[in-house]
Amino acid sequence: LTVQDMAGTQVLVSLGPTREFFDPARYWSNPSTGIMGGALAMAAWMRGAQVSVVHGPVDIWLPPAVSYTAVNTAREMFTACTDLWPAQDVGIMTAAVSDFSPVPHGPEKFKKRSLNSGEFTVPFAVNPDILRTLGHTKTTGQKLIGFCAETRDLAGYAAFKLKEKRCDLMVANSIASPGSGFGSPTNAVTVLDAHNRLEEWPVLPKAEVAWRLLEWLVHILR
Ligand code: C5P
Repeated sequence: LTVQDMAGTQVLVSLGPTREFFDPARYWSNPSTGIMGGALAMAAWMRGAQVSVVHGPVDIWLPPAVSYTAVNTAREMFTACTDLWPAQDVGIMTAAVSDFSPVPHGPEKFKKRSLNSGEFTVPFAVNPDILRTLGHTKTTGQKLIGFCAETRDLAGYAAFKLKEKRCDLMVANSIASPGSGFGSPTNAVTVLDAHNRLEEWPVLPKAEVAWRLLEWLVHILR
């Protein structure tokens, strides 16, 4: 028995971390592995969707039928996602985008010998919010799922971010509880939709979280 309830649906999934380079040898990043986004891309493909993945540096396998755009920086991810967005029915933004980038030192490696004290200061610039940009340019038929990693008040932050980024579904995952968050094969999430339906799920395999989220999405799409 096959479930093809996403046949004919174009889905964009962003996943993984971004790398914000300071000099040719050093970058600012986070521990995202892309497992949650990979599970969603896989589940969407299995349900018949045409899936495009924009990914930071990750090591995950997906079926060859999925189309890929590899990026490093948040700005590259922004360009790739905003270029693809008009052709999509659904956006699922699981990427752990760096909110800030160090202002680059320049093309040469920063030398510790150039320091004359035990510390130095690096200025950071704010990156564009990709999800928010997609939310604020979405058309009537397009649906958007956002993620957020939180240490407390998952429902509160989910409500705020759902509204602020104009999402249809916001998934808050706990990065403070065991069996959840970065690099874990399981996740504990709180899910909120634009009709204020709220669910708190127990620790589940990320593949099951993905399947359940698509169940919810298919319901919203109908
Ligand atoms: O506001 P916060 O970073 O917690 O929101 C997380 C959500 O926003 C994720 O879905 C992430 O992919 C997206 N995001 C983004 N661009 C940013 C920061 C976050 O698309 N610069």
